[in-house]
Amino acid sequence: MTVQPTELEAQLQAIRLEAQQALTKADSLDQLEQLRVKYLGKKGPIPQVLGGMGKLDPGDRPRIGAMANDVKEAIQTDLERRRTALQAAQLQAQLETETLDVTMPGVYRSQGRVHPLNSIMDRVIDIFVGLGYTVAEGPEMETDYYNFEALNFLADHPARDMQDTLYLPDGNILRTHTSSVQIRYMEANEPPVRIVMPGRCYRRDTVDATHTAVFHQLEFLAIDEGLTFTDLKGTIRMFIEQLFGDVPVRMRPSYFPFTEPSAEVDCQWRGRWLEVMGCGMVDPNVLKAVGYDPEVYTGFAAGMGVERLAAILYQIDDIRRFYTSDLRFLEQF
Ligand code: DAH
Repeated sequence: MTVQPTELEAQLQAIRLEAQQALTKADSLDQLEQLRVKYLGKKGPIPQVLGGMGKLDPGDRPRIGAMANDVKEAIQTDLERRRTALQAAQLQAQLETETLDVTMPGVYRSQGRVHPLNSIMDRVIDIFVGLGYTVAEGPEMETDYYNFEALNFLADHPARDMQDTLYLPDGNILRTHTSSVQIRYMEANEPPVRIVMPGRCYRRDTVDATHTAVFHQLEFLAIDEGLTFTDLKGTIRMFIEQLFGDVPVRMRPSYFPFTEPSAEVDCQWRGRWLEVMGCGMVDPNVLKAVGYDPEVYTGFAAGMGVERLAAILYQIDDIRRFYTSDLRFLEQF
């Protein structure tokens, strides 16, 4: 028995109409999805109609097939249109319920700020980075070797008493200065070297207005062929000028085991000479300890206390204030 093409055509028309009506009535995206499955799904009416095509006269098949496609597309178009409308309505409803009163007082959040010690360290690091240096860091728990021995502090040498050390039960120590980072860096890198080393240090100091058991140092080191004391002086002048401005600077002979000659640097600040750092030409013994040839390379280094710099620059008379977390103090910076 053959099927009349008009019969299938009528079925397809009916499907299209029914879907159209159902879609206009859909009032949620969920419902829309159900209708999509119902009319366009694999188990929907259109495949069913197409299933009946086998019984058609072959000449009618293309026409019916094309019509089935048209119906599918029409349903698809209606569906999308309805989806857009529903989404817009949903957004509109949301906007109407979520009103925002811009005249209401805001929630005040107090703003944090950079701690004065960190801000000084950042400034110093920026100056040296501008001179082509890179930042190097090392551990705060150190061995005697890196903190003392490789820096030419001989065993039982009185120079060890210059720094009251905190010993750990395992025989290691808390580093007393950032100079240990020089050794670690040179051991791992070939010259030329230009590094700036910020970090926390520890000493068995009795706490008072100018001493704390935990403090910060900044150190710089340059190693290359042909570096002289003049380069050290020039670097220090440049640095002090950038940090303090155009102030008088002087150097006094001093002693450190790891530099020879060594000097103390003072700058005049508000009418007084203030000591700002220790420095010197790296001792050949230090270069040898890291495997650099002292006949080829020379270099200079300097180390300064960050609390001291901050105390000078911010006119703080008691460095313990940097650690008490008193907002009345910290918020002034
Ligand atoms: N390590 C010294 C100290 O803690 C500071 C210092 C002096 C570092 C001279 C240096 C230097 O690199 O060359 O007192």
